[in-house]
Amino acid sequence: MAKSNMDRDILSVFYSEEQIHARIQELGDQIYDKFHDKNPLFVGVLKGCFLFMADIIRACQIKCEIEFIAVSSYGSAFQSSGNVQITRDLGQDITGRDLIVVEDILDSGNTLYFLRGYFLAKGAKSVTIVTLFDKPERREKPIKADYIGFDVPNEFIVGYGLDYRQQYRNLPYVGVLKPEIYTEE
Ligand code: IMP
Ligand code: MG
Repeated sequence: MAKSNMDRDILSVFYSEEQIHARIQELGDQIYDKFHDKNPLFVGVLKGCFLFMADIIRACQIKCEIEFIAVSSYGSAFQSSGNVQITRDLGQDITGRDLIVVEDILDSGNTLYFLRGYFLAKGAKSVTIVTLFDKPERREKPIKADYIGFDVPNEFIVGYGLDYRQQYRNLPYVGVLKPEIYTEE
């Protein structure tokens, strides 16, 4: 195993690297069955999506294109606000395209609720949402993902793209941090 100075900050592991990869392959197979003749455009929501995006498009060997969008919506280090702003816009026209939006985690729903409306207003033909993690208990906006890797309880998790204050994104697994790691807001 690679050396890590992050492991010691983790209280418990929720999903191992192996579990994550196995689940992504299942999602990839399902997406293949539905989209293999549609030339979809995968749109990753930065930054959290970057590992999931890389894995899901390889788990799903269909002719497709990829695109990214970056948003900022954080009210605090732990939760987004309803005030979602695009910090890096799409690099191409999405009119008439079948979009597969790839997100790390669906929490309050503020981000994806905003983005779905934005993509439809820009002329997308369809918007399908794929999220690796879902915290359904936390939902504030009426939005559901079409493909979900894992439901997670109402706890703040890090790893596999998910950060606490921009760190821990490169952990290959997902877990919860020890309480002493959290600094004051
Ligand atoms: P939403 O807009 O509240 O649905 O939040 C979506 C974004 O909040 C995600 O893309 C993450 O960046 C962030 N987020 C929500 N929950 C967590 C978590 O448990 N760990 C790390 N980031 C999270
Ligand atoms: Mg994110």
